[in-house]
Amino acid sequence: MKKFYITTPIYYVNAQPHLGSAYTTIAADVLARFHRMKGEEVFFLTGTDEHGAKVAQTAKKKKIKPQELCDQNSAKYEEVWDTLKISYDGFIRTTNTKHEEMVAQALKRLNDQKLIYKSVYEGLYCVDCERYYTPKELINGECPFHKKKAISLSEDCYFFKLSSFQKKLLQLIKNDQLIVEPLERKNEVLGFLKLNKLEDLAISRTNVKWGISLPWEPKQTIYVWVDALLNYLSGLGWSGAVGQIPKQWPPDVQLLGKDILRFHAVIWPALLLALDMPLPRKLYIHGFFTINGQKMGKSMGNAIDPEEMATVFGTDALRWLILSSFPFGHDGDISQSKFYDKYNADLSNGLGNLLRRVLALAEKTEDSFSFPVESKGEFPAKIKDCWQNYENFFEELKFADIATSINDLVVFCDRYINKNEPWKLFKDNFSQYKDVIYNLLETLRHIAWMVRPFMSDKSDEIFKSLGLENSEKEKSLAVGKQWGKTEFTNVFQGKILFPRL
Ligand code: MSP
Repeated sequence: MKKFYITTPIYYVNAQPHLGSAYTTIAADVLARFHRMKGEEVFFLTGTDEHGAKVAQTAKKKKIKPQELCDQNSAKYEEVWDTLKISYDGFIRTTNTKHEEMVAQALKRLNDQKLIYKSVYEGLYCVDCERYYTPKELINGECPFHKKKAISLSEDCYFFKLSSFQKKLLQLIKNDQLIVEPLERKNEVLGFLKLNKLEDLAISRTNVKWGISLPWEPKQTIYVWVDALLNYLSGLGWSGAVGQIPKQWPPDVQLLGKDILRFHAVIWPALLLALDMPLPRKLYIHGFFTINGQKMGKSMGNAIDPEEMATVFGTDALRWLILSSFPFGHDGDISQSKFYDKYNADLSNGLGNLLRRVLALAEKTEDSFSFPVESKGEFPAKIKDCWQNYENFFEELKFADIATSINDLVVFCDRYINKNEPWKLFKDNFSQYKDVIYNLLETLRHIAWMVRPFMSDKSDEIFKSLGLENSEKEKSLAVGKQWGKTEFTNVFQGKILFPRL
């Protein structure tokens, strides 16, 4: 069976999930569900990133132990992901003993291979990013993301020989042996690797207590990003041992936002090369949700609560709105009012209304509807085309294009109804009436399959209204997407699919 391993970044546990963090996770979930629908063996990993100075600081402010903060907030992420129907197969927490042991083991291996050495680090550090910046990268001495002054730090620590991987990384990304998409992000990394001399990476800290200790010098803790990146391996149960490769390895797609591109396109593959592990096939870098042009986040004070949004729109609709509002690889500004407009246009007046219209027309007769053998209409070819686009768009992670093509299909059906006036045919030409309704019911069945990765419950409701509650779910996608094989015997108006807001 074809396997599909997909990851999201692991989320900072000192913050609470917001709509921005939900974005990556919902996209990964839709992709995971699509690959499951295709019959692949999917492993979808997400989790929480729980070490580092920031976590310790937040816990101190709250007068609780760091582990308590991690437990509380990690549970919050799981709760929100449940609300958003995130079907992850693995949830990794970096304070899991197994993960901690694996990270220590991996570092020991790098040390044994002489890829790690001790020296002094001096630099400008942003506590919120948990990373050092070069003076050039700061804007007026401030972190470009958090707009806070970077502090000057100096410490004894261990370094990973990142610089020795520069040429190899450049070559691998250039030749698409490690695919970085979209193209502008690939060019960004290549530009960075061409124009800058890679410096070795400080991979341990003495001044950060809340972290995994280096096995050979426990007062040094492992740099939180190295610890975090290795989750993609520990989440599959990797032991860190030489020669052991988990069955699901390597990732087919790793999703991430543009703020963490370099960690994933430079440090991460270098670590894997050093550990002699195959590289991920593809890194896909999506854009940001912004509010008035500013990245959404707790530290920005503009976070939108995904649970609140799910209460307003319903989880399925929210998932659809989030992914259809703008192209995945770009930034997009959002507001609740834009979501309202889109909800009413695509879902309430669009798909929901079409379903009601078609069912009302179908209910005019007690007859069942089966494939109109005589009819050579445009539907079979159109639907085949739609599936082709659908699968190509999934391959390219063009979620918004998928939504647009489904919306177009809805519009096409509405026009088909207006043109053919089946309410008249019902009286004047019953057999043609039945053909027209068959085409519409069958198209709705296809649409229910197409929206399934985005809106699984709504898809179930459509199947139910079409009288196919159980039979469709037993089909493979290959069978489900065939035209004209389904008979509709028991259609009925269920509850309104998308009530108007
Ligand atoms: N803990 C690190 C990742 C370590 S992975 C080895 C981290 N965490 S995060 O919680 O800050 O961000 C997680 C993901 O959410 C990132 O991909 C980030 O780009 C994404 N987003 C955070 N805010 C976002 C928006 N406003 N819009 C879209 N995605 C956003 O980074």
